[in-house]
Amino acid sequence: MTYKIGFIPGDGIGPEVIAQARKVLDATGIEYEPVEFDLGAKRYKATGDVLPDSVVKEIRDLNGALLGAVGDPSVPPGILERGLLLKLRFDLDLYVNLRPVKLHPGVPSPLANKGPDDIDFIVVRENVEGLYTGAGGTHKPGSLFEVATQESINTRRGVERVVQYAFKLAEARDHRLTWVHKTNVLTHAGGLWQRAFDAQAKAHPDVHTDYVHVDAACLYFVTQPERFDVVVSDNLFGDILTDLGAAIAGGMGLAASGNIHPGGFGVFEPVHGSAPDIAGKGWANPVACILSAAMLLAHLGEADAARRVEEAAIGILGKLRGMAGASMGYTTAEIGDMVAEAL
Ligand code: IPM
Ligand code: MN
Repeated sequence: MTYKIGFIPGDGIGPEVIAQARKVLDATGIEYEPVEFDLGAKRYKATGDVLPDSVVKEIRDLNGALLGAVGDPSVPPGILERGLLLKLRFDLDLYVNLRPVKLHPGVPSPLANKGPDDIDFIVVRENVEGLYTGAGGTHKPGSLFEVATQESINTRRGVERVVQYAFKLAEARDHRLTWVHKTNVLTHAGGLWQRAFDAQAKAHPDVHTDYVHVDAACLYFVTQPERFDVVVSDNLFGDILTDLGAAIAGGMGLAASGNIHPGGFGVFEPVHGSAPDIAGKGWANPVACILSAAMLLAHLGEADAARRVEEAAIGILGKLRGMAGASMGYTTAEIGDMVAEAL
């Protein structure tokens, strides 16, 4: 089967890391037809378009997509993030954001006393609700009396389906699931999450469950990462937790993710942003994007190719001096070559 795979390089270092992921995908030998999408700051500034509905329709017809990065300092905050990245997640109903937190052998972690056996879990972030929906408003902006509200939207069905996905994932892993929230303060949203979680826990009695407040979860990520196997949380808590997760597992240069509609479409992307400060320098670590391509392959059902890409990418990490920036000892393209050759 020839897959139709979309590539959305986007902004900053996005095109550089996407080029390396393509190199690696080519080296796997899987048959695919690449479909390129010119989206991001350049297109917005030239045409005013961010993500036309016609493009969403084209993307929906693909087998999957790989996205580089979105965001540019010359565009006001929110326009590209909300208009492109979040619109893709919302319009395609990619309600699961899957973010592995795994320390690979040979990769330095800032947690000096923790190793690969301790840091090996996965965060399931709710991806289309919560504080990200844009609900709220501004009244009399700029005046002394201005008012701003930002509301967290939580639907019973929306929460239950992502929690159900997390339970199934826990069943395929170590049968341990932790949910993270702030139920002691956010009693409305927390109550709904609690009821949805409890209903799913009843349906999955073979999974050992735990609840941790988000502030304590930050502490435990750093002091006891081994207590986690699958973690499920809402959109904003999941966003924040996964930057911390990336940090303990070797940094943003390595963190991969997938925006998934289980059983359906998926857009895969490195957790890192567009890093405009290093764009064009050849300093970006493409491994996060390559590992995201491996997740895409797994999502397509190409388990063997996914495993080979993951092994090849992890296998070269020991050669790098640092995991991102000027200190890596190799350029972005050289790292892509090393992974492709290892395949
Ligand atoms: C991420 C990013 C995005 C998010 C931004 C760029 C909108 O931080 O994918 O984690 O907050 O989801
Ligand atoms: Mn983030």
